[in-house]
Amino acid sequence: MQTDTIKIKQAAEIIKNGGLVAFPTETVYGLGANALDEAACGRIYLVKGRPADNPLIVHVNSDFDMERIVRTMPPGARMLMEAFWPGPLTLVLKARPGVFSYGFEDTIAVRVPNHIVARLLIHHSGVPIAAPSANISGRPSPTTVEHVLADLGGKVDMILDGGPCRHGLESTVVDFTELRPKILRPGSVTAAMIEDVIGKISPEGHGESVAPKSPGLKYVHYAPKAKMTLVLGEKEAARARVAELAKQAENPAIMDMERKPEEIAANLFADLRRFDAEGHDEIFAQSIDEAGLGAAIMNRLKKAAGRNILEV
Ligand code: TXA
Ligand code: MG
Repeated sequence: MQTDTIKIKQAAEIIKNGGLVAFPTETVYGLGANALDEAACGRIYLVKGRPADNPLIVHVNSDFDMERIVRTMPPGARMLMEAFWPGPLTLVLKARPGVFSYGFEDTIAVRVPNHIVARLLIHHSGVPIAAPSANISGRPSPTTVEHVLADLGGKVDMILDGGPCRHGLESTVVDFTELRPKILRPGSVTAAMIEDVIGKISPEGHGESVAPKSPGLKYVHYAPKAKMTLVLGEKEAARARVAELAKQAENPAIMDMERKPEEIAANLFADLRRFDAEGHDEIFAQSIDEAGLGAAIMNRLKKAAGRNILEV
């Protein structure tokens, strides 16, 4: 059942009282707690089984006074806020000391989600909401309420249903705490879209090289239960190799990479979970062009495949 205002107001009361609420955003479902309540945020880590050194993103609405949590606002960050908020973009900024306990060193990650349920929840709660993706740590992020129930059912105080998430991949994370801005996690707001607004950004930071800066990036991610193999390379050759490998496998599933990037992204995590539900032992996918949204898709596929990546 979809969510109504009464339910959102109940959820807001739960947040205010230190509870946990899973809620929809335009990217993936989040597991929210009052960002200013250290004990409540601590429960997020317990429920998800999340490593203690992986910081949380703080969700606010457009009317939030950023000076309450942020020490400095670089002009480029402000330009991106104006261009992409509300939307699937997270900014890492220098934090005001002592406000939020679950940042990274002296930084805080913030975003304004573009989903009516998320915005109403933040509005009625009256506090910033810290929220990681609402999955058990290491599992694919949830893009439907069924995914949230499968991972966290019975473990959280309330789950709000907002239907399937539009983008299906987590927000783009851009770091503004160094000399030049840098993408720590690619998402639906692409590098080209960002560079259109603020000009050239640091090239390094795309993909895998950034583990030290964003602690979350070093952990196992998005892992289906089936063994996932990713084949990189020219389209026809990669397709042939996938077919050949699948033929040798016990009970294989092949990801459909022929769809539009937006469609692949919106369904990627749902596909991984569905393949598990259908009992496949192996999943095969071939690479797509890393331009635009392709960067975010390939980033998630590489993480889901872990070491099982081969090139043709
Ligand atoms: O789309 C999203 O961003 C979703 C929805 C719920 O908003 N949230 C999400 O949160 O993906 P999570 O916790 O699954 O991923 C947060 C990522 C992690 O890689 C974490 O390490 C990074 O953001 N992060 C959080 N705070 C950071 C900080 N202060 N500095 C660097 N990286 C940070
Ligand atoms: Mg996550």
